[in-house]
Amino acid sequence: MAEARAQAGGVVGLVPTMGFLHEGHLSLMERSVAECDQTIATLYVNPLQFDDPADLDRYPADQDRDLALAEACGVDLMVVPRPQEMFASPPLTRVTVAGIGERLEGEFRPGHMAGVATVVTRLLAGLQPHRAYFGRKDAQQLAVITRLVQDLGFPVEVVGCSLVRESDGLALSSRNVLLGERRAEALALSRGLMRAADRFDHGEKRATVLEAAVRGAVPDGALEYARLCETSTMTRTAVAEGETVLVTAARFGPVRIIDNVGLVADRSGGSADRGVRLGHPSLIYGSEGT
Ligand code: PAJ
Repeated sequence: MAEARAQAGGVVGLVPTMGFLHEGHLSLMERSVAECDQTIATLYVNPLQFDDPADLDRYPADQDRDLALAEACGVDLMVVPRPQEMFASPPLTRVTVAGIGERLEGEFRPGHMAGVATVVTRLLAGLQPHRAYFGRKDAQQLAVITRLVQDLGFPVEVVGCSLVRESDGLALSSRNVLLGERRAEALALSRGLMRAADRFDHGEKRATVLEAAVRGAVPDGALEYARLCETSTMTRTAVAEGETVLVTAARFGPVRIIDNVGLVADRSGGSADRGVRLGHPSLIYGSEGT
């Protein structure tokens, strides 16, 4: 990593990923390329953040394709650290962001958020970027990283980027290729969120009603949580005032997916952030089929 950093000059942008790239990742890379002199992307499937070994085993990978896609986006350097390069010996240190990282994903995936925060801290220390790009798809992750950067004083600007959806609304995720026939069922989550967003746009601010719109759309037993939270602290809130986010997680067979809509309320009303939609099938289906 030190070598990679030494090669990069000017304003350096960092895009950390776990690979099996899709248009969500590429949108982060494109933004960094547009805003920075040099862009470093990383590909590292971080074992520290997998609470379930089976999930790690089946995590999709296609490194050659990832390298070609990143290059085509204008990424200057793709860093693919070996585990020993990331941590010379198994790390005893964990970065935990109290509160923000302990709720939601922290509850349902013990150790996950600390695994993310630890590896991102390691990347920020090793690559010393000026800006680091993260997707709003992982709203809690973005809140955790924003806070850890503030607390630990990393001289980096954390940039939150739009959530990218497939053309039918499913939030893009590398894991979507694992859904197979359950993909149609999994669409219920984004459908519920879109319903909640519509209600918010029509003036509904009560968490109970917004959360119920999701619960009503997702089959019994699949939903892990649907919670309206304050965006920067991820604390639950009863009313969508200021900047809030309706965060959700659900399981379809062995595949767990997360999704959210941002809700920004002001005096004139409010607007829901549904993210952006692709106008074509995602490239992740290129080699595997839907
Ligand atoms: P990964 O899931 O590969 O995602 C890498 C980055 O892409 C994250 O910032 C994530 O929020 C963003 N991203 C994923 N899907 C997106 C979508 N549909 N729209 C917009 N952005 C999207 O998130 C991780 O990896 C890891 O936790 C990581 C930060 C790399 C640490 O290991």
